[in-house]
Amino acid sequence: MWLETRTIPNDAQDAFTSFLEDLNAKLENADTNRNELCRELLAQFLHASSYADVLTRAPIAALNLDPRNITLEAEYYTTVDLVKFAKVKPLLWLWYNFDLSPAAQSVEFGVRFRRMLAKHIFKRVGENFKAFPGAQFSVGYNLEVGNNVTFHRNVLVDDIGGVTLHDRASLSDFVNVYSHTHSPLETPDVTLKHTTIGAGVRVTYHATVLAGTTLSDDSMIGTMSVVTKDIAPHTVAFGIPAKPQREKIRGDGSIQVDSRVFVRPKDRKANPDYPEFKTSSEQTRALRELSLKR
Ligand SMILES: CC(C)(COP(=O)(O)OP(=O)(O)OC[C@H]1O[C@@H](n2cnc3c(N)ncnc32)[C@H](O)[C@@H]1OP(=O)(O)O)[C@@H](O)C(=O)NCCC(=O)NCCS
Repeated sequence: MWLETRTIPNDAQDAFTSFLEDLNAKLENADTNRNELCRELLAQFLHASSYADVLTRAPIAALNLDPRNITLEAEYYTTVDLVKFAKVKPLLWLWYNFDLSPAAQSVEFGVRFRRMLAKHIFKRVGENFKAFPGAQFSVGYNLEVGNNVTFHRNVLVDDIGGVTLHDRASLSDFVNVYSHTHSPLETPDVTLKHTTIGAGVRVTYHATVLAGTTLSDDSMIGTMSVVTKDIAPHTVAFGIPAKPQREKIRGDGSIQVDSRVFVRPKDRKANPDYPEFKTSSEQTRALRELSLKR
């Protein structure tokens, strides 16, 4: 153990617990208007006031607290499931803007608040999920998270094509994980590729994981690396592109995600204008041949 246990005074802890239980109950209730709930909470966290009061004093600021009055990037993509997105959008807006508030800078309250939101946004989330401030997602509803997974500061998880993180996976500060890619030839030709991060994987500071890669259990990605290909179990990979550099010597632990045998969900084309399937490396080869001919 290298982490200390920290406690805060009971009165604050009790107030936080009852606030979070109450909020969770509201989110479990299908009759709750999530847009109104979001704007009211943001008025409290950001302006220490009610929504109605902020609307009178600063109408433009108030209108932008309401998820119905704002757009997020994912809404512009034809591939987004608008029914699923409508359910999670108010909670994504709440998460991102809560993260700009003083309350969000507290690990104690911030982690519990985001853990509760994750339950209502992600496709699946296990026990003890921890997210520090500044995380962003594409749609949130295509993200599957196991037990004891941690997102450190400012991670970006583009889950539009599906991302799975298994138990104990950790994304360090400023890590980017992608699940879609654009053709080098035609930008609107988008392929959705499921990205899998195995159990106990550590993707360290500022690394980028490209769409469709599989990081096997117990692998580790060095800082600033770009993962373009699958990584085998127990492997430490780093560099641009990330190459296997070390192997952790381990006993015969059980490995569930092993990129050498793992069957990745099929890639999907996001844009019906480009139905023909080509992998991005085929597209890059075609582009290279075209350039050589010129
Ligand atoms: C992957 C990592 C642990 C490798 O560390 P290491 O095995 O001690 O490697 P070394 O420091 O001995 O470096 C070996 C060589 O690789 C190079 N190197 C190390 N990390 C590198 C990286 N991320 N990218 C490119 N080159 C790297 C070194 O410069 C050195 O090169 P040289 O042989 O030409 O001198 C380290 O790069 C890393 O990313 N640490 C991240 C820390 C961490 O755990 N963060 C998460 C906290 S939440």
